[in-house]
Amino acid sequence: MHLLHELKNNKSKHGENYIGLMSGTSIDGIDVAIVEFTESQCQLIASLDYPIPSEVKQNISKLSSPRTNTSLQALENRIELMAEMDVIMGNLFADSINAILKQENLSPSDIIAIGSHGQTLRHRPTNKNPFTLQIGDANIIAERTGITTIADFRRMDIAAGGQGAPLAPAFHNAILRSSKIDRIILNLGGIANITLLPKDNNKEVLGFDTGTANTLLDAWYKKSHQHSKYNFDTDSGFAKKGSINKDLLQILLSDPFFQLPHPKSTGREHFCLDWLLTQIKNVKQEIKQEDVQRTLIEFTTQTIADSIESLKLSNYQILACGGGMHNQFLLNSLTEKLDVKVKRTNDFEVDGDYLEAMTFAWLAKQRLEQKPGNLPSVTGARLEKILGAIYSC
Ligand SMILES: Nc1ncnc2c1ncn2[C@@H]1O[C@H](COP(=O)(O)OP(=O)(O)O)[C@@H](O)[C@H]1O
Ligand SMILES: [Mg+2]
Repeated sequence: MHLLHELKNNKSKHGENYIGLMSGTSIDGIDVAIVEFTESQCQLIASLDYPIPSEVKQNISKLSSPRTNTSLQALENRIELMAEMDVIMGNLFADSINAILKQENLSPSDIIAIGSHGQTLRHRPTNKNPFTLQIGDANIIAERTGITTIADFRRMDIAAGGQGAPLAPAFHNAILRSSKIDRIILNLGGIANITLLPKDNNKEVLGFDTGTANTLLDAWYKKSHQHSKYNFDTDSGFAKKGSINKDLLQILLSDPFFQLPHPKSTGREHFCLDWLLTQIKNVKQEIKQEDVQRTLIEFTTQTIADSIESLKLSNYQILACGGGMHNQFLLNSLTEKLDVKVKRTNDFEVDGDYLEAMTFAWLAKQRLEQKPGNLPSVTGARLEKILGAIYSC
């Protein structure tokens, strides 16, 4: 399948339109992508970055962070809050769909289905009872938009013994594989994940989470800039003022996640501010705030570089996507380590800001066509599975 990029105002009547909805661990906003599929192509025809109100962000952040306070009242409050946020996020997702339809002057009948990832609150695929939890009630999305909605994409893979993540590699394989050169697709969201697309069609696609991309960078920036109107360290302006603290870097890199073989995936329930504060306490000397930020850049790019090097490729391209691709300082730090210039998927006609949302449009289509959505070589599932539950409107 070949992909043409963002041909706005070219809504061909021949293709089938699907909408993908994504709100990642960074909780920075809802990505909405309208994707047109024809037999041989798919193209992003419209996109929208729909805002999440700050109070909602705070509540999602609170629910995404494990608490050790286990009083019955606290537990009761969190269950109530989670159930309510499921409705609030469902309504926000529906609002975002209705906003893009209005923006593009489209009606619900122009869209075959919505694929909604939901908002992850927990991802624990290696628990004794493995689970992953996304909220944003799809009943509400279907009812309020008048469009069939597919959601709950990850749990069938977990039921089949997989990690339930990452799911994007199957879509990367469909649209970004080259027969001339091995490619790494590097998604720099809250968490970082890589997809290896071998040029040899007989070789399996691999993909796994390498650790954090922006989660800790954002968390530390916000902690040290409590009155800032910004939610992240734009272009690493703060990190650039600091120096790498080698002791802290070694401690961060010694987390057992980095020694695990793939398939593997992680989330902000593990790599959270509390985790970082615990590691900082293990360093003997005081560390300046900007040095922590700079060290986190190094930590992020070192873990990505180690993961890519473990694949033992000789000649390959790296195509970055996700919000972190805008952080040139981070890309430079990675380029220095790997000796391969890190490009962006945008250089290959794929809008890296909406690639994940497009993935869920594609997964919705796969679901309706009864085709599998996972790659067992990536998630570790026992077999290919049809992913997602259908909510008819
Ligand atoms: N100019 C920039 N400089 C530094 N970081 C950026 C920049 N633009 C975006 N980001 C980072 O990208 C994140 C959002 O990335 P995104 O791919 O949406 O993640 P997620 O999938 O977790 O929602 C922001 O939280 C921020 O950390
Ligand atoms: Mg996002």
